[in-house]
Amino acid sequence: MTDALLRETKVPTGGSDAGPMLGAAGISKSYRRGGLLRRRSLRVLVDAAIELHQGEIVGLVGENGSGKSTLMRILIGSLDRDGGTLTRHGSIGYCPQEPVLYERLTPDEHFELFGYAYNLEQAVMERGRDEILETLDFTSHRDARVEELSGGTRAKLNLGLALLADPDILLLDEPYAGFDWDTYLRFWELTAERKQAGRAVLIVSHFAADEDRFDRIVHLKDGRTVAG
Ligand SMILES: Nc1ncnc2c1ncn2[C@@H]1O[C@H](COP(=O)(O)OP(=O)(O)OP(=O)(O)O)[C@@H](O)[C@H]1O
Ligand SMILES: [Mg+2]
Repeated sequence: MTDALLRETKVPTGGSDAGPMLGAAGISKSYRRGGLLRRRSLRVLVDAAIELHQGEIVGLVGENGSGKSTLMRILIGSLDRDGGTLTRHGSIGYCPQEPVLYERLTPDEHFELFGYAYNLEQAVMERGRDEILETLDFTSHRDARVEELSGGTRAKLNLGLALLADPDILLLDEPYAGFDWDTYLRFWELTAERKQAGRAVLIVSHFAADEDRFDRIVHLKDGRTVAG
């Protein structure tokens, strides 16, 4: 199905000794909290590290509040880190935990807008859009305003927008929390296809049942990452 999603496939060329597509080491991050008088700092990440290689599906797990979304946002570059290093080779896409959507726009209008922002040719955007709508099974909602959509359909659109530009590296923060079973299975098919095409995917997950689907799992605990 998704040859538009997999277009411009970059097959791994370097074998196992090729460097990571995404590498982070020694990442630290504290948030400042409270008002002027009761200012304090919350240390969320102390020494977090992660590597994503071509063709890998990696799970990021940890308790609520352990810093998974914080690390994701640092990896994507939307949040500044206090310390540590980041390297990236290839384009990156991100599906935030909370969908960032425009209530008055339809899914089709979102794809149009994001296609423009990604600088995609119209025909490429349309092909990617139609395959995403079909694969995630929300074609019938393409012309409804987001404010009318169910939580699950919003989650599909949120994921679809991250897929639209077919990024080399995909970071997904609990992407399937609102999915029904069929969509959940299709999500994993889609992820497996990306892996085969040499893409890398990092997924925040809470479900122990998903463990077998990952090549590796990274645990986040007390601000540090531990291989699991
Ligand atoms: N902008 C912010 N300002 C202050 N504190 C924040 C901010 N964002 C997150 N935090 C705090 O940082 C900690 C880590 O939050 P984060 O959202 O990264 O956790 P998480 O592992 O993604 O949790 P969950 O499983 O619930 O999604 C939490 O204690 C949270 O309250
Ligand atoms: Mg989170």
